[in-house]
Amino acid sequence: GAAAVAGPSSLTFPEIAHQLTPRDAVAEGYEIQTVIRWGDPVLPDAPAFDAQRQSAAAQAAQFGYNNDYVDFFPLPRGSRNATHGLLAVNHEYTDPQLMFPGLPEEGPAKANPSREQALTEMAAHGMSVVEIRRENGRWAPVQAGRLNRRITAETPMRISGPAAGHPRMRTSVDPSGREVLGTLNNCAGGNTPWGTVITCEENFNQYFGGAAATTGDQAAAYKRYGIVEKAGYGWGQHVARFDLAQEPNEPNRFGWVVEFDPYDPQSVPVKRTALGRFKHEGCTHAISADGRVVFYSGDDERFDYIYKFVTARPWNPNDAAANRDLLDEGTLYVARLHDDGRMEWLPLVHGQGPLTEANGFASQGDVLIETRRAADLLKATPMDRPEDVQANPVNGRVYAMLTNNTRRKPEQVDKANPRPTNAHGHVIEMIPPGAGTEKVDHAATEGRWEIFLIAGRPGVDAGAQYHQGTSAEGWLSCPDNCTFDSKGRIWISTDGAPGTSKVADGLYAADTAGPGRGLTRLFYQAPTGAEVCGPCFTPDDETVFLAIQHPGDDKGSHFAEPSTRWPDFDAATPPRPSIIAITRKGGGVVGA
Ligand code: FEO
Ligand code: CA
Ligand code: CA
Ligand code: CA
Repeated sequence: GAAAVAGPSSLTFPEIAHQLTPRDAVAEGYEIQTVIRWGDPVLPDAPAFDAQRQSAAAQAAQFGYNNDYVDFFPLPRGSRNATHGLLAVNHEYTDPQLMFPGLPEEGPAKANPSREQALTEMAAHGMSVVEIRRENGRWAPVQAGRLNRRITAETPMRISGPAAGHPRMRTSVDPSGREVLGTLNNCAGGNTPWGTVITCEENFNQYFGGAAATTGDQAAAYKRYGIVEKAGYGWGQHVARFDLAQEPNEPNRFGWVVEFDPYDPQSVPVKRTALGRFKHEGCTHAISADGRVVFYSGDDERFDYIYKFVTARPWNPNDAAANRDLLDEGTLYVARLHDDGRMEWLPLVHGQGPLTEANGFASQGDVLIETRRAADLLKATPMDRPEDVQANPVNGRVYAMLTNNTRRKPEQVDKANPRPTNAHGHVIEMIPPGAGTEKVDHAATEGRWEIFLIAGRPGVDAGAQYHQGTSAEGWLSCPDNCTFDSKGRIWISTDGAPGTSKVADGLYAADTAGPGRGLTRLFYQAPTGAEVCGPCFTPDDETVFLAIQHPGDDKGSHFAEPSTRWPDFDAATPPRPSIIAITRKGGGVVGA
């Protein structure tokens, strides 16, 4: 229903109802536009999409699969143009049983690919940069935009920072330890004040396999990152570097954050090792009071940690060259959250505390390559799968989406992870000194934290905790990504609600201050099988872009009979991960 909205929330849209349907839905008064879909042309020579005959060559020039992080970089560079810009999008992973006709269900299709399938999947990974424009209210890609780019699992990249050149980063193909091909499993991301993309390598372990996973001299290190003998992806059957027997160090070259300039299609992406190696969900920045830049990042694994990196120097708004390698020097910290509401940021610095040669860390490079083990030794707080960690530019608080952790036992509960068998996740706020003032000290090594909400259905799922005015449609499950509008309201997208609650994933919004603080409301509902990623506003707040990832991936094998053929609903076309734009009918600010 579209009843007028009353109550304490500043958000004016009428909520939609929780449901689970092949078609998506948005609040009344808003409209959904499809901006770009898997297989749509990106580069000038890209062929038209042909779902029945996809190839590696076609895919390398087309929009990739399973879009996650979305960002909007206005054109021209440095402007706040809200109708023309570059869309930067991650392509996290592939679902071959939905991409190629005639394949069996997910496990075998992924683990035993043909050579052409493997190469096509590699080309469907990485990123797209696509020039888009809004005309007469409609968003569309600019045909063969001059700055368009595809980054794939084979794009040459540079490795920089303290782990670059380390013996454990060297391979037979790259004896320097400074050059690597591609980026993998890029989930969420972020950007920098100087206008570059930050894209994050998350579950990179799935691509590497072989007996060396359990028998080699790096077996313990592999294990801490989930690298096992039988890789989820069988690319190693065709491409040597994914086979641990042939390239035991190749996995050490993944699990990083990657920076590149979206405005220069020739720019070489750089893996910034100073920010640590783990399953980076995302990595978002805040500018500290003294001008140093702080990057927050979650390690998305059960019982893993929240990190931040503080640059050694302030950034320089007037000198692009001075910022170019700012991410190579600074301090990486991991979070410890105390039950009394205080928190500490513990430095991961070689030679300090337990991070010594005696414990197997001969250099800062070792600390970074094995960031997780270093953080274990520092006794960081094991969290319930940290996804997006993002600072609210209005109130200075930093929000962490803790998506779920069904393995937390009652004896492992603490105040920051307060629920055993946490199926629905929760959201915490970390509060740096000065939050709420003009001078927020994001670089500080101490702060406070609070619970923002505990997800699940209030009154039904144990421990669920919301604003008392939350409606029957306003509760959520499995928070994953988030963003903030210009008013400082939080927009949270979810991943996993169909499994926990039999409702679609969606996009929810809430005030973060005032009487409606924490009162979540359902704005958008995804089609069956899909999660919602990357909420991203244009600078005028009149458009919110969403990445709709893995539509139709709720059954085993379904090129032939998927649960949805969103967004085309064409009988010969499988569902297609796509970027959508949501705008207000007749124009205006989203959420108002
Ligand atoms: Fe790729 Fe943490 O979700
Ligand atoms: Ca995610
Ligand atoms: Ca996901
Ligand atoms: Ca997720």
